[in-house]
Amino acid sequence: MVIVMRVLSGIQPSGALHLGNYFGSMKPNLEYVGKAESSFYFVADLHALTTIQDPKELRQLRKDIVLDYLACGFDPDKATLYYQSDIPYHTELAWILSTVSPMGLLERAVSFKEKVEKGISPSVGLFTYPVLMAADILLYDINLVPVGRDQKQHLEITRDLAIKFNNTYGETLVVPEPLVRDDTAIVPGTDGQKMSKSYGNTIPLFGSDAVIKKAIMSIVTDSKGINDPKDPATCVIFQIHKLFLTDTERKALAAEYKEGLPYGEAKKKLLQTYMDFSAPMRTKRQELEKKAGYLEETLASGAKKACLVAGKTMEKVRKATGLQ
Ligand code: ADP
Ligand code: TRP
Repeated sequence: MVIVMRVLSGIQPSGALHLGNYFGSMKPNLEYVGKAESSFYFVADLHALTTIQDPKELRQLRKDIVLDYLACGFDPDKATLYYQSDIPYHTELAWILSTVSPMGLLERAVSFKEKVEKGISPSVGLFTYPVLMAADILLYDINLVPVGRDQKQHLEITRDLAIKFNNTYGETLVVPEPLVRDDTAIVPGTDGQKMSKSYGNTIPLFGSDAVIKKAIMSIVTDSKGINDPKDPATCVIFQIHKLFLTDTERKALAAEYKEGLPYGEAKKKLLQTYMDFSAPMRTKRQELEKKAGYLEETLASGAKKACLVAGKTMEKVRKATGLQ
């Protein structure tokens, strides 16, 4: 049996991308472009309103994330790229789904509780966040949604809502399968904890040379002597460096650590690797920024393609519910 892969991924426009985002989310997501029968990538700007309420900031962030994706090799001819808010069907389906969502299902969502604990305002939108996310997915007859572990429960809610809708109104929506990236390693930050914007320990993907150098040079090390053997398994510099390397390169670098590579030298090597890796992406990003109208045209054409697919699902939903 041939299973047609229809993949979708939602990207939060939440700030400058760092290496954790790149290796933990963007790189694995981009692997589907061109492989799936169709793939949809959108900037979750409606979801972002639950945390960002500064219009200038949101406008900049959603544009930046598109530039980041394009600079990192996303090919808009092979996949559909759009802003969520450009497709009004997302909010329409979200409302309809909310009328079949049991309160208890949403009350059990851990991400709402975690966000409120972090100080985010407990708005109705934050509470119904998973319903909008379900609509994002169910509009496109998606069968695979690659997500990090933190999003697994949201995918379970999506499946529950699709099943609930189908039980109420007859088979209408495709029930998607989550593809949880349990295997992507947590990228450590410069202080050895998980790299995260909220910990101020990031190495940005598109920072200036000076910012990147400062971040890499500040990576924590232990107190081993300059020429003492170093343990690659526990060294944060190595744990970050290895992400860029092939198996053979990784083994060769590990051997140098064991032979006593000084930490200062290890950091310089990582900086060089990082610069070689990011140079083409940074050049591409600068070129894209200068290409007047390119971003807008790419997003408009993505929105047009997305609208066609989502519109067909909405027609089925409207007929099933009696709205048409
Ligand atoms: P941050 O912690 O900086 O706020 P986000 O929560 O916005 O990052 O992360 C967006 C995506 O990037 C998530 O899917 C998450 O799984 C991935 N990600 C973030 N930080 C890391 C990390 N240190 N290692 C691996 N993946 C990460
Ligand atoms: N909630 C996701 C996150 O925080 C973003 C998102 C919104 C999403 N809608 C989606 C992810 C649909 C996958 C599918 O990263």
